[in-house]
Amino acid sequence: MKLSSIFSLISLFFLAAVTEGEASRCSITGIPLVRNISEQRQDSHGIRGLSHIMVAGAALHGMKEVEVWLHTYAPGTRTPIHRHPCEEAFVVLKGSGTAYIASDQAHSRHSYPGTPQEFRFSANSTFGIPVDAVHQVWNSNEHEDLQVIVVVSRPPMKLFIYDDWSMPHTAAKLMFPAFWDEECLKEESIKEEL
Ligand SMILES: *[C@@H]1O[C@H](CO)[C@@H](O)[C@H](O)[C@H]1NC(C)=O
Ligand SMILES: *[C@@H]1O[C@H](CO)[C@@H](O)[C@H](O)[C@H]1NC(C)=O
Repeated sequence: MKLSSIFSLISLFFLAAVTEGEASRCSITGIPLVRNISEQRQDSHGIRGLSHIMVAGAALHGMKEVEVWLHTYAPGTRTPIHRHPCEEAFVVLKGSGTAYIASDQAHSRHSYPGTPQEFRFSANSTFGIPVDAVHQVWNSNEHEDLQVIVVVSRPPMKLFIYDDWSMPHTAAKLMFPAFWDEECLKEESIKEEL
């Protein structure tokens, strides 16, 4: 065997090893079906004060209809003001906070969200965000982490982010893939191109 072909064999081997390593980080499917949340990766994905754990995800676990997250927000942490074309349900496990929801959903009367309604919640509260309603979730408790289970429909999520409540809907910035999908969805699209 020529030296050059040995080299190409070796590099193929490394390429395969790297690809497999990345794939297993980004798509954990099949058995075991029972997973331990404590062993799932925890990451802020660039949002200060957030810990995100993908309990059951589209990119990670092949979920098709719903996605489930475990989010922990440090005191004072807020989500961006945003909307998404899917439903979202929250179950508050620990702590307390405030949800702001622009009641005038789906762009019916105004071209911008307008002053939101304010809802206080605490452990054992549950609330839902309708499709396309502009909202923000805030850990307004200075002393305690806020921990929530979040369920969203139709993953992977498309986000539209607002600078403030008077920003026109048409000016909201599309973020896709969402924070936690960036790494794995990018990789998937690269795979499709190959
Ligand atoms: C989950 O993992 C944690 C940390 O590794 C461990 O302490 C705990 O016993 C595990 N729980 C289950 C249900 O396996
Ligand atoms: C939440 O509700 C359940 C069912 O009523 C109850 O068992 C549990 O103690 C409650 N927890 C808190 C923190 O109120």
